[in-house]
Amino acid sequence: MGNGSVKPKHLRRPGRHAANVSIGCAGNHKFLKDPHLGINVISGQADVLCSRVLELEKELKRKDQELQEGQSRVAELQEQLDMQTKVIAELTKELQSKCIQLNKLQDVVSTQGEHSLQPFPYKVASRIQVSANRRKRAKEGVSAEPTTWLYDLNRQATFSFEKAKVRKDSSEKKLIMDAMNKNQFLKRLDLHQIQDMVECMYERTFQQGSYIIKQGEPGNQIFVLKEGSLEVFQQNKLLSSIPVWTAFGELAILYNCTRTASVKAITDVKTWALDREVFQNIMRVTAQTRQEQYRNFLRSVSLLKNLPEDKLTKIMDCLEVEHYDKGDYVIREGEEGNTFFIIAKGKVIVTQSTADHSQPQLIKNLHKGDYFGEKALISDDVRSANVIADEYNVECLVIDRE
Ligand code: CMP
Repeated sequence: MGNGSVKPKHLRRPGRHAANVSIGCAGNHKFLKDPHLGINVISGQADVLCSRVLELEKELKRKDQELQEGQSRVAELQEQLDMQTKVIAELTKELQSKCIQLNKLQDVVSTQGEHSLQPFPYKVASRIQVSANRRKRAKEGVSAEPTTWLYDLNRQATFSFEKAKVRKDSSEKKLIMDAMNKNQFLKRLDLHQIQDMVECMYERTFQQGSYIIKQGEPGNQIFVLKEGSLEVFQQNKLLSSIPVWTAFGELAILYNCTRTASVKAITDVKTWALDREVFQNIMRVTAQTRQEQYRNFLRSVSLLKNLPEDKLTKIMDCLEVEHYDKGDYVIREGEEGNTFFIIAKGKVIVTQSTADHSQPQLIKNLHKGDYFGEKALISDDVRSANVIADEYNVECLVIDRE
């Protein structure tokens, strides 16, 4: 363009035919060429057009540059999106494997007793043979402990069970109750907790095609299907359908995780729903009542009766409850011990190995209010005797050394 010539450009001309108008700027001769009309136009006005063409070229370049910038930004964002999709896929995988682990754990626990897995802080741990190490692992393994309380503490204080109750027929209550008791997770709650939940459930309907639950979202309700047809999906893959009078949507509430699957209404659907907040309040009230009972009980234990209130509260805070069936070992002789036990219900026997006998010999019977396991705590010694449950459903309050 050093000689002032402008490469021919094809401009679009308004009109019936798209015209190719060539514009040339050669030396001082500016001309317009229209191949359709076959006219060469040399004119002073061509100057104006030439500079316009130059302007347009510049504009075009600028736009080209903008376009390139835009494209590289899109590529950058695409890369970010790909990365985030990968992260989401990894997290989803992790969540799935956690759920599988949870299910496995649940299976293991359910073979060990009915009261085994309950959500913290309402947890009542129950194990058959408990060693300190196993206790630690079990604590780490169960993901039931809420990391955050999503409900408003003020609202919690003003919760009224009477106001939350929704009137329903007793036949309907029984069907909901049975549905809750059929659920492998909900059935581990106390009977009266389930009864309270049933009382507070209310009817919710959903239209055909709508999602009642979406995978990955926080859980706000537990449901029981009353009428209609529901299907469960994970990553758009159909897992199963939900029969009428089945409880669902319990996992996110009990284990404070996001929804593990999506639930879609295949027909119009009627459900009974319980708000998460109400569920948590029912659990809280039960836990408080139980705490109060344990506090009174601890006060009645000779070892603790003179303890200052704040120390007793500290003990209450780290207390766990464990259940044992007849013959279960609470403590094994020779094991390391980090826990101290108070019998809250039932009786146990204490046995010890002796040089004269091949089998450990009975040395003591202990009952409600008695305590054991303190020696290994104080001296760092291993357990000096076996403690074995002597009836069904022995309940011990357990205090960890830490
Ligand atoms: P939640 O994770 O709270 O929300 C989705 C619910 O779908 C979940 O609780 C269970 O109640 C239910 N659910 C999850 N996986 C399955 C499955 N494989 N079959 C049937 N129901 C399921």
